[in-house]
Amino acid sequence: MDIAKLMYRDGLLAGERILVTGGGTGLGREMTEAFLKLGATVHICGRRPNKLDETAGELMAAHGGSVVGHACDIRDAEAIDAMVGAIWADGGALTGVVNNAAGNFISRTEDLSINGFNAISDIVFRGTFYLTHNVGKRLIAEEKKASFLSILTTWVWNGGPFVVPSAMSKSAINTMTQSLAVEWGRYGLRFNAIAPGLFPTDGMSARLSPGGRGDNSSDQMNPMGRHGEMHELANLAVFLMGPGAEWVNGQTIAIDGAGYQASGGNFFQSLAPLGDAEWEQMRSMIKSTNAKDKADRS
Ligand code: HXC
Repeated sequence: MDIAKLMYRDGLLAGERILVTGGGTGLGREMTEAFLKLGATVHICGRRPNKLDETAGELMAAHGGSVVGHACDIRDAEAIDAMVGAIWADGGALTGVVNNAAGNFISRTEDLSINGFNAISDIVFRGTFYLTHNVGKRLIAEEKKASFLSILTTWVWNGGPFVVPSAMSKSAINTMTQSLAVEWGRYGLRFNAIAPGLFPTDGMSARLSPGGRGDNSSDQMNPMGRHGEMHELANLAVFLMGPGAEWVNGQTIAIDGAGYQASGGNFFQSLAPLGDAEWEQMRSMIKSTNAKDKADRS
């Protein structure tokens, strides 16, 4: 990210304590950098300890401050409880949570196994709830305010052909956002979401456009002729997490150059024409990425 393009004054987030799930890589890392630069203490979690250490080290070397990594698979509610307990023990309540961790891969839905469906929905649908629920209960008990932000997609409004487990799960988190904004608003807990268009990251490209296929939102298709820049996403995330706009609650805000309005922002046009051989090839490319990531977890 071009850190000079952050819109905010230094120190804006001083005293904030924010957990970013999936904060070691991709969009999570970018938001972590912005929060850190603006003075927050940032906790990051993920399944690959080496990535967390690397990110924490690099960001603190660049900006000072404190980034703390936690190896935690959010599919495991007990692991979440242990991590959140450790965060509380090390400085007290969180003031913010960014539900960013996700899993996804393109597949014809008829080709999905139940395990494949569960691999995605256990992370996005269940894991996001487990974490939100765990942190929310602690905050309510301690009468502390906080901001929760979930990273979704515009598919929560129009569906996601060829990414059905992700689209279903993120739609559920959109519903959680709207529901808890109302139910827990009285506790000073607020819930918003961002629906990003294309902000290319390694994890996403390897699973959603392996070998360049399935490029649903190429720069040419976007009304503004480009993809998103990381500082744009970070500026919106800071706005929603920081002090000064606390009455924004229950909203899901797209940041996609109006790609959703122009073309629906989904995969139908690019993937519907593909045949068995092309799907087989993509599946093996995605699985080799998954295997590489898995090796990093042990
Ligand atoms: C069919 C597949 C598959 C594929 C995996 N599976 N890849 N099936 N096609 N391409 C099946 C496996 O065969 C297995 O089922 C089951 O899924 C679990 O596979 P594992 O590799 O054991 O899963 P796991 O190690 O738990 O990994 C979870 C994952 C992986 C979701 C599959 O992709 C992951 O860790 N992703 C995290 C990072 C990520 O996805 N980032 C991109 C997010 S992008 P069987 O039946 O064989 O046992 C995103 C953006 C959305 O969310 C919005 C964009 C605009």
